[in-house]
Amino acid sequence: MTGASLRNQRVVVIGGSSGIGFAIAEGARREGADVVIGSSNPDKVADAVTRLGGGAAGQAVDVRDEPGVARFFATIGPFDHLAYTAGDWGPQRDGGGVADMDLTQANETFAVRFWGALAAIKHAQPHIAPGGSITLTDGMIAHRPRKNAALGTAMAGAIEHLTRGLAVELAPVRVNAVCPGYVLTEVWERIPEAERAARLQRMTERQPLPRAGNPAELAEAYLYLMRGGFTTGQVLLVDGGLSLI
Ligand SMILES: NC(=O)c1ccc[n+]([C@@H]2O[C@H](COP(=O)([O-])OP(=O)(O)OC[C@H]3O[C@@H](n4cnc5c(N)ncnc54)[C@H](OP(=O)(O)O)[C@@H]3O)[C@@H](O)[C@H]2O)c1
Repeated sequence: MTGASLRNQRVVVIGGSSGIGFAIAEGARREGADVVIGSSNPDKVADAVTRLGGGAAGQAVDVRDEPGVARFFATIGPFDHLAYTAGDWGPQRDGGGVADMDLTQANETFAVRFWGALAAIKHAQPHIAPGGSITLTDGMIAHRPRKNAALGTAMAGAIEHLTRGLAVELAPVRVNAVCPGYVLTEVWERIPEAERAARLQRMTERQPLPRAGNPAELAEAYLYLMRGGFTTGQVLLVDGGLSLI
């Protein structure tokens, strides 16, 4: 698993129907890997598999449903690399202010991005080749807290510490994470086009690289962490320098 290429390897991307995950699947295909993508909406999965073309397959899986996650990985069988980019964007995303926090609802902040990742790892790891890899995803809220988002900061930070813990537990399978800054994926389409450019400019103008990243630039980090046979327990910040300001 230490070669410089993913050729003939098998890569699974949970969250691969959109955004960063789709770009990882595209990049892995370009290097000659076989790719399996999963996400909760069967139509999105089918559409993404068509766009990826030959060498790609997909299956619907909702990471909130542990038995479904177990079935997903049992069906897929052995593979080399797992990338996990599944993320939801609901009202509980960052948790809200602590004074009014409904602690049962607070759990929702962790449901897809943290507990979903753990469910995927639990059921994926028996199928991953020794020297293969797992790459998780968090976000810059882990490093740059803001008001009314302490839970989001805790959740993203938990993913980074899960990465370190599992790198020890699951070796020789390598476990790393990517921490993206602002990335122009489909999620930004929720903001009306007229507002989008100005808002992104405001959010990124102080960065050393004053723009949002594109999904392919993020995918490079995941592909490196799959190939990088001596790298484990690391969190790679790909943020245009946001962490420096
Ligand atoms: N874009 C950014 O600016 C940015 C910044 C920092 C961090 N991130 C993080 O990077 C990750 C990917 O972001 P993105 O922008 O690529 O998002 P995206 O385009 O919305 O992709 C998210 C993926 O997750 C899947 N998903 C959502 N809920 C799921 C569930 N319950 N089970 C299985 N799959 C599920 C979605 O497909 P279905 O709808 O079919 O389920 C989709 O394929 C997220 O964790 C996000 O928090 C993104």
